[in-house]
Amino acid sequence: MAEAKIIDGKAFAEELRNRVADQVRELKENNNLTPGLAVVLVGEDPASEIYVRNKNKMTTEAGMKSFEHRLPADTTQKQLLTLVEGLNSDPEVHGILVQLPLPDQIDEQAVLAKIDPTKDVDGFHVYNAGRLATGSDGLVPCTPLGCIMMIKDQLGENLSGKQALVIGRSNIVGKPMAALLLKEHCTVTIAHSRTQDLASEARRADILVVAVGRAQMVKGDWIKEGAVVIDVGMNRLTPNEEGKSKLCGDVDFEAAKEVAGAITPVPGGVGPMTIACLLQNTVTAACAQNDIEVPEV
Ligand code: GUN
Repeated sequence: MAEAKIIDGKAFAEELRNRVADQVRELKENNNLTPGLAVVLVGEDPASEIYVRNKNKMTTEAGMKSFEHRLPADTTQKQLLTLVEGLNSDPEVHGILVQLPLPDQIDEQAVLAKIDPTKDVDGFHVYNAGRLATGSDGLVPCTPLGCIMMIKDQLGENLSGKQALVIGRSNIVGKPMAALLLKEHCTVTIAHSRTQDLASEARRADILVVAVGRAQMVKGDWIKEGAVVIDVGMNRLTPNEEGKSKLCGDVDFEAAKEVAGAITPVPGGVGPMTIACLLQNTVTAACAQNDIEVPEV
């Protein structure tokens, strides 16, 4: 049996970002509209810093306006809510992203609930979560949106009747991922830490999405032959003797690629798609707020 196709998330994301840049160009020319994305970072978490820097760079490269708000780690909830209110009413801001996690003194849910749902490009507001759960259009969380695009790129637009297993039940990835697969008429199972006989569940899956944050938890002999395997995990292995630590996903990639039909690597799979989808969501939000169709490019 041939080895799996390795899904090139970097190339896929670059293509999507180019398409977004074309849409932005059309919106500027035809509608005098420049989509704007505001990113809020509270504190100095190093991983978040890198992520926010990349977001700003790619937003600008796509021709959009980028607004960056950096607040100190001791920011109060009230101060953050006041900033969000200001962004809600700023006509130049079409998308708002408050980087998570937030410091302990701030109630994350209260902040997410304050974001205008039409500007909620993370898709984390209960309004958008509810729209997705009921099969209606709305803003969809970026990581699952990127995953479903890659799945369709492998299997075609028609996923009807496929067996899909999502391992992980977070609000950010697992639950919206399952909702998207259900919307595509897959038979969807959600597995989690209490699931009995996870291996057997996985072996039935034509589509396997793993988002648990446990290095190489999914073994090669759990994979159905020819399955599409999407690995959302990003784990750092313990450093070797030279002090070098490697990144790896939630799937044992080397073993799984002998069996799968297609598989995302870590890094270079799902990761790059997340920011590209954020840019796409910002264009979608800007168009919806201005009663304009998203340009076909
Ligand atoms: N922290 C890590 N990933 C994300 C994301 O996609 N959105 C937000 N808001 N915070 C994050």
